[in-house]
Amino acid sequence: MIIAIDGPAASGKGTLARRLAAHYGLRHLDTGMLYRAVALQAMRAGLPPTDEAAIAAAANTLDPALCDDPALREEGVGQAASMVAAMPAVRAALLQVQRDFARRPPGAVLDGRDIGTVVLPDADVKLFVTASAEERARRRHRELMERGEEAGYEAVLADIRRRDERDAARAVAPLRPAADAHLLDTTKLDIDSAFREARWIIDAHLNTGAGRRRE
Ligand code: DC
Repeated sequence: MIIAIDGPAASGKGTLARRLAAHYGLRHLDTGMLYRAVALQAMRAGLPPTDEAAIAAAANTLDPALCDDPALREEGVGQAASMVAAMPAVRAALLQVQRDFARRPPGAVLDGRDIGTVVLPDADVKLFVTASAEERARRRHRELMERGEEAGYEAVLADIRRRDERDAARAVAPLRPAADAHLLDTTKLDIDSAFREARWIIDAHLNTGAGRRRE
């Protein structure tokens, strides 16, 4: 079974994807980490942020050890990731890695921005996870405070809005729900409730003929 989960920053899709993967015994790939790793590799190599060919070459030779680097979680790397993610050559370089990961048995949960629309248009189940920008900023702000990082709520909200705008407005693979995605708004849901709703959607799929055929 292949599950595609898309949504904006801090919507809760990452936590949900991890929990669903554990519950259904599937592998999990946080595809945002790939874009973050490319951005970090480019920054550390001192590449000009507009040099698409050089950054795509970095994506083709991505150092797997970078995917565990704690610096990937930093806000600055997130903004840089959003910029490299707008480059068609970078997206093309990462496409096959994601498809290969998903198709290896027993299947996988991938979370990102374009999984249901571009990377895995034939995924068995697609979820589009959203929450209001204010609620996502509150969550991100709380997370930063817990990690001891200084950041005002207004600045976090502005960052979230800037990133939403860039991810949704780009020409290639913009952030948008696939026509056949199930929408899950987590503004008023805690993670346990969101997990329950997502399982309900997936179990309904598994109980249909389509679900049984594809397993
Ligand atoms: O989910 P995240 O914040 O770790 O993602 C970092 C950036 O990568 C985000 O701004 C958009 C981009 N991204 C993307 O364009 N496509 C994906 N499938 C995943 C992430």
